[in-house]
Amino acid sequence: MARILLLFVHPFPHRSRVSRALLEGVCDLPGVEVVDLYEQYPDFHIDIKAEQRRILDADLLVVQHPFYWYSAPALFKQWQDRVLEYGFAFGGEGGALRGKDWLSVVTTGQGSDAYRADGHNGHSVAELLFPFACSAHHCGMNYLEPIVVYGASRLSDEQLAGWVERYRQRLADYRPGRGQGDG
Ligand SMILES: Cc1cc2nc3c(=O)[nH]c(=O)nc-3n(C[C@H](O)[C@H](O)[C@H](O)COP(=O)(O)O)c2cc1C
Repeated sequence: MARILLLFVHPFPHRSRVSRALLEGVCDLPGVEVVDLYEQYPDFHIDIKAEQRRILDADLLVVQHPFYWYSAPALFKQWQDRVLEYGFAFGGEGGALRGKDWLSVVTTGQGSDAYRADGHNGHSVAELLFPFACSAHHCGMNYLEPIVVYGASRLSDEQLAGWVERYRQRLADYRPGRGQGDG
């Protein structure tokens, strides 16, 4: 069975409609371990060794978050800075994450038309997630095609249910070692 570590990164989950529904839709899948980063580390003092053990035990790292200023909420940056350290994730005796997969799952406030070359932002979400793709690559991980749920606040209940089902299916179908984009 594939082992999936799902980092849920949302500072206000009680105010969330979409991220919470997505999480609730996948958290009971076999092999999925959910870590609610803001619940676990409200003071940003991450237990580095515990988090490194968690990711070592996983085949797939899922990073689920709302898009905040074209990136992830701040605690995920802290997680990266502390957990993906030199000598563990890369460099020296590093490389512990080589061959593992990374899947970003992002919800946005703005609609998909804002993320086109001729739209408000001028770039796609996939392009704006480039630092995460580079981080995965730097650690020897396979960066899978992200899931992007656009226009979160305008989604109908039916559309949201469709996204929950697609997310659940993507994780249920996941098999380690298939490489780029096959998630
Ligand atoms: C601090 C902050 C920054 C945000 N930055 C962006 C952004 O850069 N692009 C965007 O499309 N939405 C942005 N949003 C909107 C959130 O992405 C959106 O509210 C969220 O994805 C909705 O999901 P939720 O219901 O699970 O919270 C931002 C929201 C907040 C609070």
